[in-house]
Amino acid sequence: MTHINSNRRRFLQYVALGTFTGAIPGFASTENRKLNQMPNSAFKPDVEIALTAQTAEVKILPGTKTRVLKYSGKLLHGPQTAIRELPGYLGPVLNFEQGQKVRLFFHNQLPEPCVTHWHGMHVPQIMDGHPMYAIEQGEQYVYEFEVKNPAGTNWYHSHTHEMTARQVYQGLAGLITITDEAERKLDLPGGEFDLPLVIQDRSFSSGNQLHYSLTMHQRMQGFLGDTILVNGQHNHVIPVKTRAYRLRILNGSNARIYKLGWSDGSPLTAIGTDGGLLEKPEIFPYIMLAPAERVELWVDFGGRKTGTELALQTLPFQGAAMGMGGGRGGGMRGGGMGMRGGAAEQGSQDTLVKFAIIEQVGDSPRLPDTLIPMQPLTVSNAANPDRVVSINIGMHRMTFNLNGRTFDMLDYTEQEKIPLNTVQKIRISNISPAMGGGMRGGRGGGGGMMGMMAQPHPIHLHGQQFRILSRRPGYADGAYATIKDGLINSGWKDTVLVMPGEEIEIIKPFMDYTGLFLYHCHNLEHEDMGMMRNFMVG
Ligand code: C2O
Ligand code: CU
Repeated sequence: MTHINSNRRRFLQYVALGTFTGAIPGFASTENRKLNQMPNSAFKPDVEIALTAQTAEVKILPGTKTRVLKYSGKLLHGPQTAIRELPGYLGPVLNFEQGQKVRLFFHNQLPEPCVTHWHGMHVPQIMDGHPMYAIEQGEQYVYEFEVKNPAGTNWYHSHTHEMTARQVYQGLAGLITITDEAERKLDLPGGEFDLPLVIQDRSFSSGNQLHYSLTMHQRMQGFLGDTILVNGQHNHVIPVKTRAYRLRILNGSNARIYKLGWSDGSPLTAIGTDGGLLEKPEIFPYIMLAPAERVELWVDFGGRKTGTELALQTLPFQGAAMGMGGGRGGGMRGGGMGMRGGAAEQGSQDTLVKFAIIEQVGDSPRLPDTLIPMQPLTVSNAANPDRVVSINIGMHRMTFNLNGRTFDMLDYTEQEKIPLNTVQKIRISNISPAMGGGMRGGRGGGGGMMGMMAQPHPIHLHGQQFRILSRRPGYADGAYATIKDGLINSGWKDTVLVMPGEEIEIIKPFMDYTGLFLYHCHNLEHEDMGMMRNFMVG
């Protein structure tokens, strides 16, 4: 089959170009398994789904339909609840249970390569959607894995080499929910009271088509759109009853960071983060949500009057907008993001979605005092308490990098080798000499070149979820004060927002699976410009 040949050719090219030495575990088996084009007969799936990436036309704005890329799904085997279609361009919500064995037949019907990553899921290298496994139009890739994650909200999206940003922008993303025994005991709001909210910013041409072209400045800061979509819909209003709901919020935007807040100033109750439920509910005045991060909220509409509305907003914040005065940028802007022809900068205020109270009901579940017990993970668990793994964010020739290097398909350095079944302490640092902040003395300043090029970076690590050990904020120019009370530092994470000048220590297990696992900035324009590297676990 020519399909195998084209993949094999690409594979061999990578081998020839990279620093491949023949010692990458998972690689030999990858070849033996012919890049997983056929199901493994020894794997007995509980759920089987066909997932196809294709072009489609969907209604988003009034008038002409919008051409998008879309995952369409079909349940082949397993519980009916395993897949739920959403209107619009997003792929179906995939609902899994911990312990289930899942097989996904991924078909690429796009006239370009594509590969799918299960963001947040703990799966083997060849199932993880590394860009080396991209398939061409007409090809199939079979993903098979056991769901090891606990209950929570994850997602899937394209991870195609240098095309991730555009493909995700055009629609290639969807949610994954996982449930488990411990969660079921909590009796959290379910069914129609368990609402997914995928927040994305887009720009449209006058003909209602998605607009995506980047100036140098836009490439540097990542794509920022002028129109907020929630679950692929514009000006979304969700009818609700006077009772408690669970909101599963994903920031599925390429680059925009949200500062979530209720329109009436009520505090927010978080019950979950990227990796699942928290130990207990936590209250925040607002919550920062960077690209790829998830937060689960508990909201009780009880006591509100029928006919009223409550909006979820993004509030103004500072320190994230790039350019002159970037350190103090953002903030409010007349007209907000509705304005065409110039997207609001990072940190602008807007309405995300409205909840319309339409019905009084008597009954509501109560917020549990505690959620799930959380295994402590501290520096005492680390295999490297004194030899921390560094991820230094840098910049060279208008390209962001990690430890001075950009992405190279199979490349990893000595310090990117991680021994299997260890827990590692990792320090992510957004202080770069190239940005003018090399010396610690620069930490107090924040102006000048620093203010221009310093940017927030949501850093994502594939594989298992990590915990945040500490944050050391950067510049004391007041900008940090506009975001700091909205950072959730408890709970399991796979993506962490690193503000300009900030240094964050995390602790992360690398269990079960050997091979290449990516870590990168989840500002997707940054990822595609090479702000991504491999860890070699083995
Ligand atoms: Cu959500 Cu490597 O990606
Ligand atoms: Cu970045």
